[in-house]
Amino acid sequence: MKITVIGTGFVGVVSAAVFASLKNTVTGLDIDEAKVASLTQGKVPFFEPGLEELLISQQAEGRLTFTTNYIEAISEAELIIIAVGTPSDAHGHADLRFLYSAVDNLLPFLKDGAIVAIKSTVPPGTVSEIERHIKTKTTKPFSIAALPEFLREGTAVADTLKPDRVVVGADDPDAWEALKALHQPFGVPIIKVRPESAHMAKYSANAYLANRITFINQIADLCEKNEADIEEVIQAIGMDKRIGSHYWYPGFGYGGSCFPKDVRELAVYAQSKGEENNLFSKLHELNEERIPKLLDNYQKTVGSWKNKTVAVLGLSFKPHTNDMREAPSVKTIPYLLAAGAQVRAFDPQANDTAPFFIHDHPHLSYFPSLEAATQGVEIIMVLIEWPEIIEFDFSRVRNQTEEQWFIDARNQFAPTKVEAWGYNYLGIGR
Ligand code: UGA
Repeated sequence: MKITVIGTGFVGVVSAAVFASLKNTVTGLDIDEAKVASLTQGKVPFFEPGLEELLISQQAEGRLTFTTNYIEAISEAELIIIAVGTPSDAHGHADLRFLYSAVDNLLPFLKDGAIVAIKSTVPPGTVSEIERHIKTKTTKPFSIAALPEFLREGTAVADTLKPDRVVVGADDPDAWEALKALHQPFGVPIIKVRPESAHMAKYSANAYLANRITFINQIADLCEKNEADIEEVIQAIGMDKRIGSHYWYPGFGYGGSCFPKDVRELAVYAQSKGEENNLFSKLHELNEERIPKLLDNYQKTVGSWKNKTVAVLGLSFKPHTNDMREAPSVKTIPYLLAAGAQVRAFDPQANDTAPFFIHDHPHLSYFPSLEAATQGVEIIMVLIEWPEIIEFDFSRVRNQTEEQWFIDARNQFAPTKVEAWGYNYLGIGR
């Protein structure tokens, strides 16, 4: 199948490379010339395990190219997947400007009978609106569908090749048949739903997972107030098959480019439909206030942050990515600096990205290794569970003369082990 993917951001590049690997001819189209130039040379402008290798191999096979040229990319395309960004605007609404601009740019070159699939996260109703919009501008036959994305950063290639399910939101039988055939090689369930249901499913999946995380964080906070240990509670309730022990390690709240944005958008969407008092608004509020609340609490134990030297380990929003959007470090480091601490930061991949997200400060330095970052610090704070951080033997960097605190923001370490290394341990809800 001849496919064009519009938008070579994270989702676009992963989709383009994976669909090429299924022997389709794929063109990645973007208005950003620098991005297209980099991709053409086989360089992915962000860190995602396995993606660059896949990109290079598909380019070598001649199945994957990138361009900024709409005529070249659209004229022959049987399927156009739109994966442009739909960032939240100041009020929390999805901003569909890039989506409409992509649609307007492709229309003059649309091939008769082409399928337009919207992969970007958009509010329910958008597919019908886009369909109406296209029909005001052209009489050419076309089909339209919603094709929401469920991949996770850090495991994007594997998630795309083996998703739990593929959801196709299509009223149009041609679009459904073509998209079903495209995804058949994955060997996973492919379900056909209405376009509105597809987009509701995308928001609901993210909001449900964010809700799970917020729920366990609330329980963890209660455990702090008694002698319970959240890890024991998770073990105990997780054995209930209706609940399960997966996907709710407690921590500094959820981050990344999706959960915070999608929960807030769902809250605003609910309000726009007259559901003022909704769960999603509360989730957003609780997540927003989580980090300052935890840091205020830690201060009661470690003493004032003022003049303390803190090693902050893990700056990205999760392991195996250098994405820092809504990463815990982005709130934690400015909080510590404002409270008078000195911060020594380290991340295996995101040290170079960090200055774009955290203002320079005379008391903030980045270090190329965990050993260097932890030199002479009074507090070690592990924010993200990068393997090289959680597998590190911290007895090697224990400063023997002073008392040292170890803050485990993801409950990745056994408290007894950290104490045996000689630190005072602080986790979440234990
Ligand atoms: C998330 C969803 O998991 C994907 O299914 C979805 O496609 C994607 O958003 C999207 O909408 O594009 P992602 O943001 O890559 O994927 O990351 P997750 O691994 O799901 O983690 C999200 C946040 O929740 C991170 O801050 C993570 O640290 C946090 N988290 C996750 C917890 O605090 N506890 C957990 O148990 C799990």
